[in-house]
Amino acid sequence: MKSGFSIRIKTIQETERIGEILGRKAIGGDVLCLRGDLGAGKTTLTQSIARGLEVPEKYYVSSPSFTILHEYSGRISLYHMDFYRLSGSNEVIELGFEELFYLDGLTVIEWPERAEDILPERRIDIDIRLEEDEERILSFSSDDEVYLKILKEKLCG
Ligand SMILES: Nc1ncnc2c1ncn2[C@@H]1O[C@H](COP(=O)(O)OP(=O)(O)OP(=O)(O)O)[C@@H](O)[C@H]1O
Ligand SMILES: [Mg+2]
Repeated sequence: MKSGFSIRIKTIQETERIGEILGRKAIGGDVLCLRGDLGAGKTTLTQSIARGLEVPEKYYVSSPSFTILHEYSGRISLYHMDFYRLSGSNEVIELGFEELFYLDGLTVIEWPERAEDILPERRIDIDIRLEEDEERILSFSSDDEVYLKILKEKLCG
Protein backbone atom coordinates (compact mmCIF):
# COMPACT_ATOMS: atom_id res chain seq x y z
CA MET A 1 0.00 0.00 0.00
CA LYS A 2 1.38 3.36 -0.96
CA SER A 3 1.24 6.21 1.51
CA GLY A 4 1.89 9.85 0.82
CA PHE A 5 1.46 13.53 1.47
CA SER A 6 1.02 16.72 -0.56
CA ILE A 7 2.47 20.21 -0.45
CA ARG A 8 0.94 23.26 -2.10
CA ILE A 9 3.51 25.74 -3.39
CA LYS A 10 3.20 29.21 -4.88
CA THR A 11 6.70 30.17 -5.96
CA ILE A 12 9.68 28.78 -7.84
CA GLN A 13 11.76 29.39 -4.69
CA GLU A 14 9.63 26.79 -2.91
CA THR A 15 10.33 24.30 -5.70
CA GLU A 16 14.03 25.08 -5.31
CA ARG A 17 13.93 24.55 -1.56
CA ILE A 18 12.22 21.17 -1.97
CA GLY A 19 14.65 20.10 -4.70
CA GLU A 20 17.68 21.00 -2.62
CA ILE A 21 16.39 19.02 0.35
CA LEU A 22 15.71 16.02 -1.91
CA GLY A 23 19.25 16.27 -3.29
CA ARG A 24 20.86 16.60 0.13
CA LYS A 25 18.92 13.64 1.51
CA ALA A 26 19.49 11.28 -1.43
CA ILE A 27 21.54 8.14 -1.01
CA GLY A 28 22.95 5.86 -3.69
CA GLY A 29 20.30 3.74 -5.37
CA ASP A 30 17.43 6.15 -4.70
CA VAL A 31 14.97 6.60 -7.57
CA LEU A 32 12.66 9.62 -7.88
CA CYS A 33 9.91 9.45 -10.50
CA LEU A 34 8.63 12.90 -11.49
CA ARG A 35 5.13 12.89 -12.94
CA GLY A 36 3.09 15.74 -14.36
CA ASP A 37 2.11 17.47 -17.59
CA LEU A 38 4.42 19.32 -19.97
CA GLY A 39 5.68 22.39 -18.14
CA ALA A 40 4.62 21.14 -14.72
CA GLY A 41 8.14 21.74 -13.41
CA LYS A 42 9.90 18.36 -13.48
CA THR A 43 13.14 19.65 -15.01
CA THR A 44 13.05 22.75 -12.81
CA LEU A 45 12.80 20.54 -9.72
CA THR A 46 15.66 18.38 -11.03
CA GLN A 47 17.89 21.46 -11.36
CA SER A 48 17.50 22.08 -7.63
CA ILE A 49 17.98 18.42 -6.81
CA ALA A 50 21.34 18.73 -8.61
CA ARG A 51 22.25 21.72 -6.42
CA GLY A 52 21.39 19.70 -3.33
CA LEU A 53 23.65 16.92 -4.64
CA GLU A 54 26.48 19.43 -5.04
CA VAL A 55 26.64 19.15 -8.83
CA PRO A 56 28.77 22.23 -9.68
CA GLU A 57 26.79 25.28 -10.86
CA LYS A 58 28.71 25.33 -14.16
CA TYR A 59 26.82 22.20 -15.27
CA TYR A 60 23.46 23.41 -16.48
CA VAL A 61 20.81 20.75 -15.94
CA SER A 62 18.56 20.63 -19.02
CA SER A 63 15.91 18.25 -20.26
CA PRO A 64 17.48 15.06 -21.64
CA SER A 65 14.57 14.53 -24.05
CA PHE A 66 16.62 13.58 -27.11
CA THR A 67 19.45 11.67 -25.46
CA ILE A 68 17.15 10.20 -22.75
CA LEU A 69 19.97 10.33 -20.18
CA HIS A 70 22.21 13.05 -18.75
CA GLU A 71 24.74 12.13 -16.10
CA TYR A 72 26.28 14.57 -13.61
CA SER A 73 28.91 14.13 -10.90
CA GLY A 74 28.08 15.49 -7.49
CA ARG A 75 28.31 14.19 -3.94
CA ILE A 76 26.90 11.08 -5.63
CA SER A 77 26.10 10.71 -9.36
CA LEU A 78 22.87 12.10 -10.74
CA TYR A 79 21.28 10.08 -13.55
CA HIS A 80 18.65 12.38 -15.06
CA MET A 81 16.37 10.50 -17.46
CA ASP A 82 13.48 11.69 -19.61
CA PHE A 83 11.37 8.93 -21.12
CA TYR A 84 9.04 11.29 -23.03
CA ARG A 85 10.23 10.15 -26.46
CA LEU A 86 10.29 6.46 -25.68
CA SER A 87 7.63 4.07 -26.91
CA GLY A 88 7.98 1.70 -23.97
CA SER A 89 10.07 -0.02 -21.35
CA ASN A 90 11.80 -2.29 -23.91
CA GLU A 91 13.73 0.77 -25.13
CA VAL A 92 14.92 1.56 -21.61
CA ILE A 93 16.16 -2.00 -21.29
CA GLU A 94 17.86 -1.91 -24.73
CA LEU A 95 19.63 1.33 -23.82
CA GLY A 96 20.88 -0.33 -20.63
CA PHE A 97 19.48 2.40 -18.37
CA GLU A 98 17.55 0.07 -16.09
CA GLU A 99 20.83 -1.03 -14.51
CA LEU A 100 21.51 2.53 -13.38
CA PHE A 101 18.49 2.40 -11.04
CA TYR A 102 20.40 0.02 -8.82
CA LEU A 103 23.83 1.69 -8.78
CA ASP A 104 25.38 4.19 -6.41
CA GLY A 105 23.72 7.31 -7.80
CA LEU A 106 20.39 9.10 -7.61
CA THR A 107 18.13 8.40 -10.59
CA VAL A 108 15.54 11.06 -11.47
CA ILE A 109 13.05 10.04 -14.16
CA GLU A 110 10.73 12.41 -16.06
CA TRP A 111 7.79 10.73 -17.81
CA PRO A 112 8.20 7.42 -15.93
CA GLU A 113 4.72 6.47 -17.23
CA ARG A 114 6.38 5.37 -20.47
CA ALA A 115 8.10 2.50 -18.68
CA GLU A 116 5.86 1.83 -15.70
CA ASP A 117 6.48 -1.94 -15.71
CA ILE A 118 10.23 -1.73 -15.12
CA LEU A 119 10.32 0.97 -12.45
CA PRO A 120 11.89 -0.29 -9.24
CA GLU A 121 9.45 -0.99 -6.41
CA ARG A 122 11.61 0.97 -4.02
CA ARG A 123 11.07 4.49 -5.35
CA ILE A 124 9.49 7.82 -4.54
CA ASP A 125 6.82 9.14 -6.89
CA ILE A 126 6.43 12.92 -7.06
CA ASP A 127 3.41 14.18 -8.93
CA ILE A 128 3.47 17.88 -9.84
CA ARG A 129 0.10 19.38 -10.68
CA LEU A 130 -0.24 22.91 -11.97
CA GLU A 131 -3.23 24.73 -10.52
CA GLU A 132 -4.59 28.22 -11.14
CA ASP A 133 -2.33 31.27 -10.68
CA GLU A 134 0.93 29.27 -11.07
CA GLU A 135 0.23 27.37 -7.85
CA ARG A 136 1.45 23.81 -7.82
CA ILE A 137 0.60 20.76 -5.76
CA LEU A 138 3.43 18.32 -5.20
CA SER A 139 2.25 14.88 -4.09
CA PHE A 140 4.79 12.45 -2.70
CA SER A 141 4.03 8.74 -2.51
CA SER A 142 5.99 5.57 -1.87
CA ASP A 143 5.86 2.09 -0.40
CA ASP A 144 8.63 3.19 1.93
CA GLU A 145 6.66 4.69 4.82
CA VAL A 146 9.71 5.38 6.96
CA TYR A 147 11.42 7.36 4.21
CA LEU A 148 8.22 9.31 3.52
CA LYS A 149 7.80 10.20 7.18
CA ILE A 150 11.35 11.55 7.39
CA LEU A 151 10.87 13.43 4.12
CA LYS A 152 7.61 14.97 5.30
CA GLU A 153 9.27 16.20 8.48
CA LYS A 154 12.11 17.74 6.46
CA LEU A 155 9.83 19.40 3.92
CA CYS A 156 6.96 20.48 6.14
CA GLY A 157 8.46 20.50 9.63
N1 LIG B 1 6.96 26.90 -8.68
C1 LIG B 1 7.48 26.49 -9.84
N2 LIG B 1 8.06 25.27 -9.91
C2 LIG B 1 8.58 24.83 -11.07
N3 LIG B 1 8.56 25.52 -12.23
C3 LIG B 1 7.99 26.75 -12.21
C4 LIG B 1 7.43 27.27 -11.02
N4 LIG B 1 6.91 28.48 -11.30
C5 LIG B 1 7.17 28.70 -12.59
N5 LIG B 1 7.82 27.69 -13.16
C6 LIG B 1 8.22 27.60 -14.57
O1 LIG B 1 7.51 26.57 -15.20
C7 LIG B 1 8.32 25.96 -16.19
C8 LIG B 1 8.45 24.48 -15.90
O2 LIG B 1 9.14 23.89 -16.98
P1 LIG B 1 9.92 22.51 -16.86
O3 LIG B 1 10.78 22.40 -18.06
O4 LIG B 1 10.55 22.38 -15.52
O5 LIG B 1 8.70 21.48 -16.97
P2 LIG B 1 8.73 19.90 -17.20
O6 LIG B 1 7.72 19.34 -16.26
O7 LIG B 1 10.12 19.40 -17.11
O8 LIG B 1 8.18 19.78 -18.68
P3 LIG B 1 8.45 18.65 -19.78
O9 LIG B 1 7.41 17.58 -19.58
O10 LIG B 1 8.27 19.37 -21.06
O11 LIG B 1 9.84 18.12 -19.60
C9 LIG B 1 9.66 26.67 -16.18
O12 LIG B 1 9.66 27.66 -17.17
C10 LIG B 1 9.70 27.29 -14.79
O13 LIG B 1 10.48 28.46 -14.73
MG1 LIG C 1 11.38 18.34 -18.45
